[in-house]
Amino acid sequence: MTKEKKLWGGRFQDNTAPLVEDYTSSVAFDARLYAQDIAGSKAHAAMLAQQGIISEQDGQAIIQGLEQISQEIEAGEFVWSKDLEDVHMNIEHRLTTLVGVPGQKLHTGRSRNDQVALDFRLYVRDCLLEWSQLLRGLIAALVGKAMEHRDTLLPGCTHFQPAQPISLAHHLLAYTQMLRRDHERLMDAVKRVSISPLGAAALAGTTHALDPDQVAQTLGLNGVFANSLDTVSDRDFVLEAVFCGSLIMMHLSRLCEEIIIWANPQFAFVRLSDAYATGSSIMPQKKNPDVAELMRGKTGRVYGDLVALLTLMKGLPLAYNRDMQEDKEPFLDTHDTVAPSLAIMAGMLGELEFCPEIMGQALRSGFLNATELADYLAAKGMPFRQAHHATGAAVAYAEEKGCGLEDLSLEELRQFSDLIAQDVFVVLDYKSAVARRNVPGGTGPDSVDRQIADCTSWLDL
Ligand code: ARG
Repeated sequence: MTKEKKLWGGRFQDNTAPLVEDYTSSVAFDARLYAQDIAGSKAHAAMLAQQGIISEQDGQAIIQGLEQISQEIEAGEFVWSKDLEDVHMNIEHRLTTLVGVPGQKLHTGRSRNDQVALDFRLYVRDCLLEWSQLLRGLIAALVGKAMEHRDTLLPGCTHFQPAQPISLAHHLLAYTQMLRRDHERLMDAVKRVSISPLGAAALAGTTHALDPDQVAQTLGLNGVFANSLDTVSDRDFVLEAVFCGSLIMMHLSRLCEEIIIWANPQFAFVRLSDAYATGSSIMPQKKNPDVAELMRGKTGRVYGDLVALLTLMKGLPLAYNRDMQEDKEPFLDTHDTVAPSLAIMAGMLGELEFCPEIMGQALRSGFLNATELADYLAAKGMPFRQAHHATGAAVAYAEEKGCGLEDLSLEELRQFSDLIAQDVFVVLDYKSAVARRNVPGGTGPDSVDRQIADCTSWLDL
């Protein structure tokens, strides 16, 4: 495109170098912001007309032209030109072709610097709200599974070693807490994203008598910028969003890791549904948890997006710098990762088949009731350190014999302490070990019921 045709070509004598056209163009990715760009421009045009800065007719012409452009884009008829650099100039150029001189008045009192900040805020806000809905869907799926497995027990681990029996519902509900905090973080970030930068113009504000509050109101935003330099040049709202996305992915990745481990035939705690697994091209027996693996892997790219953005911003003097055009792709990449990951995890979990029988066997072979015996002895007056020692000896004995503590006779158990009596067998029962932990937030069934009720009412909010 020749310099005469560029929207900013007035003071230029030579054309842009062809390689530079490609290098500077962002329309290949920022075209995704078209709906927000058009909404922002419509609000700006309406405000200009209301303030008497442009005529009512010009305002109308602009708004109708923008509506037509929106239809053209949605119908796939709009011709995007990389030579017009970005989404803003593509749309403005088409507007002027469609409606003539009024189109040339749209940019009054506005710069692409406040325009892009507004568009991006609107876009990020929409994404955060979409993630928040998807989070709710996933939390609902977890609660559904927790309700089914209120009485299913499995080995709880520390150091990834079998530690104490817990209920599967309790394990799944742990993730609902992480995801609820993620949701809270998103809603908190939405508050700060929902601020309109329009009226800051290039960096210093404008001499036109704009009404930025009206624009903010039309767009459903909570307020307007307090400092023009800040609002055109900070991108902390994007960073916050990508950080929220990073935490969501981190939580999903941990759940993926557990699903991958549980699906291993040596565990066999879960069976993946065919819809969320793949086979091997060479080994016929395999059913691979690729979906969970990919989600764990994609977590890394979101962290990469976060670091890219932090690095992008760290050395920029005030106010707008073109470096900031590099803010879009990391965010879009994060969105394209977080949104499907949340949806897929909800689907995968819904179809995951847990195997309570096998989890029960794992409890018995892992001496997961050893703490119960130590606590039992301590409750009968033996100093806990001695109780720990005596229980250790009992475990070694049972291990040697190839059975669980609960399989030993009373006489055998009494070798380790004569404080042990018939009532020990209730204590050694896995179910009772779980049932006795109804403290708030504990793994006992009453506690689990309370957690489920709390999540259900949270979901209904
Ligand atoms: N495409 C640009 C971006 O995303 C829009 C703002 C351009 N502003 C400017 N002064 N060149 O950052």
